[in-house]
Amino acid sequence: MKITVVGAGNVGATCADVLASREVANEIILLDIKEGFAEGKALDIWQTAPINQYDSRTIGSTNDYAMTKDSDVVVITSGLPRKPGMSRDDLIATNAGIVKTVTENIVAHSPNAIIIVVSNPLDVMTYCAYLNAKTDSRKVFGMAGILDTARYRAFLATELNVSPKDIQAVLMGGHGDTMVPLPRYTTVSGIPVTELIAEDKLNEIIERTKFGGGEIVKLLGTSAWYAPGAAAAQMVEAIVRDQKRIFPVCAWLQGEYGMSDIYLGVPVILGKNGIEKIIELQLNDAEKALLAESAESVKSVMDVLDNMNANA
Ligand code: NAI
Ligand code: 2OP
Repeated sequence: MKITVVGAGNVGATCADVLASREVANEIILLDIKEGFAEGKALDIWQTAPINQYDSRTIGSTNDYAMTKDSDVVVITSGLPRKPGMSRDDLIATNAGIVKTVTENIVAHSPNAIIIVVSNPLDVMTYCAYLNAKTDSRKVFGMAGILDTARYRAFLATELNVSPKDIQAVLMGGHGDTMVPLPRYTTVSGIPVTELIAEDKLNEIIERTKFGGGEIVKLLGTSAWYAPGAAAAQMVEAIVRDQKRIFPVCAWLQGEYGMSDIYLGVPVILGKNGIEKIIELQLNDAEKALLAESAESVKSVMDVLDNMNANA
């Protein structure tokens, strides 16, 4: 198995580090456009191998896509991150150009690769990769739901003073402030979360989750990387090990949830073929309304990309 991570910045390097330390693949190529940057990060990661006792090899490349040839899975993290005061959508023009070029290069060297997009604005950058990859939509999808759900689960673990391992949850919708955490599908070792926490506290946690990315941008001056990198690596692992894990993933909808031609976060089964199934939950009217609102917000940014492409 060969994995490529494009973008050796905060998220990409973290993702490569997690993949290597978990020995998800023998060979991990880390590629960046900045001269020497990926080589430096890859060398540093490789030098953790004797300490952390693993033998997966991370190799850096300055924009040489020949080194990515025949990758099985490619993670795209290249692009600008948010700065304080910026929304994810502010990144669209720059990052769409980057994601387009990167996708074309990846597909030229690895036509069968499964592509996981991380760059923001996530739902629309995943759409951008799909348009340029010209491949099966089940092989082009985005990482956001695992991260957003992890934030929700971490906040709940803190509030309830229990292990985060025991909190299961689903979060749907776009990777933005209209994301839809679903308390009805949140349990703590099988116990409905609503039996363990007061409604107003749960609502507070849901609101904090929606703005969880922004909270870190304010604290750090740039966006998060440990949890995003680990989340992308978890998706790669599910594919490489054919684990059939159920995760919220940004997927291309064709009729599911009554929506078509849109990338949106929904629960899926991830395995060696990429998205093996989109799971359709029986949402109630309130949940459907929140999902529709989130979809509308994503669609408006997809329209911006479509207009940019039409005028190019
Ligand atoms: P970063 O600035 O640390 O790294 C980005 C890297 O991309 C840089 O090293 C840069 O040289 C590289 N790059 C730029 N253009 C390139 C090109 N054409 N080819 C190859 N490499 C190129 O940024 P960070 O923090 O790693 O974030 C990366 C992206 O991920 C951002 O767009 C950010 O908003 C997004 N993000 C998405 C999350 C999600 O949940 N989907 C969570 C966190 C970040
Ligand atoms: C995050 O949610 C900014 O999308 C990035 O941390």
